[in-house]
Amino acid sequence: MSNPLNGKNIVLGITGSVAAYKSADLASRLTKLGAYVDSILTDAGTKFISPLSIQSVSGRKASSEQDLWGGEGHVVHINLAHTADLIVIAPATANTIAKLAHGIADNLLTVTVLAAKCPIIIAPAMDAGMYANQATQNNVQLLKGKGFIFIGPAEGHLASGLVGPGRMVEPADIVCAIRYELSRANPLNGKKIVVTAGGTQEAIDPVRILTNYSSGKQGYALAQAALDAGSDVVLISAPTSLTPPTGATLISIKSAEEMHDAVLSQITDANALIMAAAVADFRPKNIVREKIKKGAGFGSIELTPTKDILKVVAEAKVDNHLNLKVIGFAAETRDLKVNAKEKLIEKKLDMIVANDVSDPQAGFGVDTNKVLIIYSDGSTEQLPMLTKDEVAEKVIQHLQSWLVEGAG
Ligand code: CTP
Repeated sequence: MSNPLNGKNIVLGITGSVAAYKSADLASRLTKLGAYVDSILTDAGTKFISPLSIQSVSGRKASSEQDLWGGEGHVVHINLAHTADLIVIAPATANTIAKLAHGIADNLLTVTVLAAKCPIIIAPAMDAGMYANQATQNNVQLLKGKGFIFIGPAEGHLASGLVGPGRMVEPADIVCAIRYELSRANPLNGKKIVVTAGGTQEAIDPVRILTNYSSGKQGYALAQAALDAGSDVVLISAPTSLTPPTGATLISIKSAEEMHDAVLSQITDANALIMAAAVADFRPKNIVREKIKKGAGFGSIELTPTKDILKVVAEAKVDNHLNLKVIGFAAETRDLKVNAKEKLIEKKLDMIVANDVSDPQAGFGVDTNKVLIIYSDGSTEQLPMLTKDEVAEKVIQHLQSWLVEGAG
């Protein structure tokens, strides 16, 4: 399994907006992720960026209006329309949106869209007044009703001097939307996977917390890999500095108690739970309501154990007859295999992913991980040093073999 863009045919439509200069960046990003990007520029689009610029970053033909009228004209648009896995129009002007809404096919881009059967993503870019105009709003609604997917426009300073919705969404975000859309055809489509991530925070007083070094990177990578494989993802996350992957439903929590409640509310209709979060084992027994003042002195904090979420899940599975695959993580600093195996049995897991957090390349915050996977039948699999994205892919591949191919 690789990213869903790899090897896909994408048609990039570029229309007449100043945001067209960003289309080169978009074409470049898509190409680097392994997509074959064929571009079509409208006449107005070519006023803002040349086909040569786009062709230079995509390595493939960027067609313009004259290609419609050449001897091969009909072949160009029918071929592009039929071989495309996805069409993205970025930037899309009010004019092109209006044409598409009404089935007008008077240039190479609009004839291609009319002939296409693949998903179509539109990233509008125009003046805020034009976007707010009832005619444009009606056209957007018409297209949404036909299944076109809109991303943006974003709010901000516009070339017209106005501030408001009208800016084209940034290329990086358009790539994320395309990635999500293309992943929907993948094998885990229709499955729901719940992923927890990050280190929980336990309040001492209104300004102080007890927490741990977890960055959330492995959990977020798992959420992305699960989305890439086609599943719906609910990401239950403690505070992190990371951006949730496009398409995930984010539930933000802070404490172990909040994570416990969120997990229990989400697993009833889920196919799998991956507990990658570093959950606090203890919390202050009493949260002091007012900030503890330095002058008042600071004695000790009385701690009380938190609930072991995975143990509660194991009970809920039995009580509610849940058909749920459960994957745990084990953070260890010694006796990795023995300790992780114990957790696998105690928490009744289908699989545990163990890592030695004292290893500088496998611990908290870094982008790599070296893990030992232990399955419920006792068998083990030692993975080499991998990126956290690669570890995530391996875990999700395994889940796929259980949920789709019926293994395990
Ligand atoms: N976990 C949990 N609830 C807790 C603590 C941990 O569900 N209150 C989960 C973690 O998300 C992880 C697994 O249990 O998937 C193992 O977590 P880890 O911190 O390695 O182990 P602990 O169970 O906390 O045991 P110990 O502190 O003895 O290592």
